[in-house]
Amino acid sequence: MCGIVGYTGHENAKDIVIDGLKKLEYRGYDSAGIALLGDGTLTVRKKAGRIANLEKAISGEKLFGTTGIGHTRWATHGSPTDTNAHPHMSGDGEIAIVHNGIIENYQEIKEELIREHGITFQSETDSEVIAQLLGVLYDGDLEKAVAEAVKRFEGAYTFVAVAKKQPDLMVAYRKDTPLVAGLGKDCNFLASDVTPLLRYLDEVYLINNGEMVVCTPDRIRIYDENRRLVSRDPLKITWSVEDAEKGGYQHFMLKEIHEQPKAVQETLSRRIDSKTGDIRLDGISLTMEDLQKLTKIVIVACGTAYHAGLVGKYLIEKFARIPVEVDIASEFRYRDPFVDEHTLFIAVSQSGETLDTLMSLREAKSKGARILSIVNVVGSSVARESDDVFYTWAGPEIAVASTKAYTTQLICFYLLALYMGRLKGTVSDDSYRMMMRELNALPEKIQRILDRSKDIEKLAELLYNRTQVFYIGRGLDSAVAYEGSLKLKEISYINSFAIAAGELKHGTIALMEPETTVIALATQDRLFDKMYSNIEEVKARHAHIVTLVKEGHDVKDISTEVITIPNCTDEVAPVLSVVPLQLFAYYVARAKGENIDKPRNLAKSVTVE
Ligand code: F6R
Repeated sequence: MCGIVGYTGHENAKDIVIDGLKKLEYRGYDSAGIALLGDGTLTVRKKAGRIANLEKAISGEKLFGTTGIGHTRWATHGSPTDTNAHPHMSGDGEIAIVHNGIIENYQEIKEELIREHGITFQSETDSEVIAQLLGVLYDGDLEKAVAEAVKRFEGAYTFVAVAKKQPDLMVAYRKDTPLVAGLGKDCNFLASDVTPLLRYLDEVYLINNGEMVVCTPDRIRIYDENRRLVSRDPLKITWSVEDAEKGGYQHFMLKEIHEQPKAVQETLSRRIDSKTGDIRLDGISLTMEDLQKLTKIVIVACGTAYHAGLVGKYLIEKFARIPVEVDIASEFRYRDPFVDEHTLFIAVSQSGETLDTLMSLREAKSKGARILSIVNVVGSSVARESDDVFYTWAGPEIAVASTKAYTTQLICFYLLALYMGRLKGTVSDDSYRMMMRELNALPEKIQRILDRSKDIEKLAELLYNRTQVFYIGRGLDSAVAYEGSLKLKEISYINSFAIAAGELKHGTIALMEPETTVIALATQDRLFDKMYSNIEEVKARHAHIVTLVKEGHDVKDISTEVITIPNCTDEVAPVLSVVPLQLFAYYVARAKGENIDKPRNLAKSVTVE
């Protein structure tokens, strides 16, 4: 949520910063802007809308600066206008800043700056107080001004500041939203994540909360909260430039859907011993003793990651026989949750930066819970604040709508549940072996679904103008129904709704009318007859029914259309059944001509509460 990037070196920073912003645009695309320092000038250009708007606006100008900072915004305080776009400047034009987060006490600081220093604010944003306060504190030493200013702020405030009088310098501070610093050749970088840096370097410094980074073309210095110099080893980046490019696909979302066989394979191989075929959780300390101490597991996440948690609950309870609660992070934190040192808290997050999830993790930690996280981004905040991390190894996920992160999160839950079940002796040798065979077969089965994408494309072209779509299912299918519905609504803007099929008759069936579109998931053999009856109930109301079943199940009588997935056990079906639903959402949105990778009002990494 909001992307920031900074460069200081000997090249013209303009194109480097704009190119970096494009890589970060998934973090917000309400406005974009840059500030360039060079030849004694500090030039700011900013524009509402996408980065392309900014590029167009400055295309006729010869802008130059060897230090530059840039920002792509997801609006919180103040509507997405040119004026509210970042960078913001101090009144005297000496300082420019870009900010990611929310200064919660900005009103108080703003009033004080107006009252005591006669400052006139230009924007409605909270962020402008950073620039204006720095402007007041600055006496030629930006480092000192930043160190003073941060004492005043409350909330989340990762920002980068530059000063006209110090043209080879960027000073950044990190609080609760992400920041990395990259050591280039005769140049250095700052960014919200590694994607803008991939083409320049392969190692970064992860910056912690409360740290200030001072960047010149030849050096990066990191200071802790007490302004002591920190010595830190850089982290090797495993993602490649190609991972973060579209690679011939029309959209990142389609590319990421198609990357699922590889991503699932990668997540499995990292945790399965190639010789014995057994699960190994290297680096995660989970002993029999640990499990004996546990009274429950709490899974907390947001959105798609929360939907993965719903499947996780089912798997852990089934295989490891430990009670599991699943909660939405923004709810968990504020309800004085019942968590103690006998709780294993599992945070699930693709980005590892979602503030709701991070805050819940801290809440659970403060109550003594042990923290395990399932995270995609190595070195992210959630990962760093956890006792143990189970990485998903999906590679960078750029499209706002999450796809491969979800399927790999599910894989982590299978491995975790089976591992715990083996330790506790609650999963038999036979069912363990069978599950391992099923898991290992998933990449090839996902590929088979992808090879038949054309069928889903045709279905989407038939149904893309529907205004309302219901997703129904029982057991694990109900968890996948929530994910299918979220995918459709977030990128196609069709009002979709998911419900456990058995619950329909308790109210929601009142909404069924002739031609209401219902996507019925019926992949659970154990519940098939019950689900069949639920589909009959909506058929009796003349709904248009698309049934999703395993190959070999005959549901033609009750369905208008049928989607099949390869045969598998009920337990692994979610990894397969979600794929046609992702494709369906994608092709519907494409048929409607929507901006699939950057749906309106959304951002990829939600770093505000
Ligand atoms: C939906 C989607 C979101 C995220 C949610 C959590 O497609 O991507 O619902 O799943 O914002 O994000 P992470 O996993 O980064 O914590």
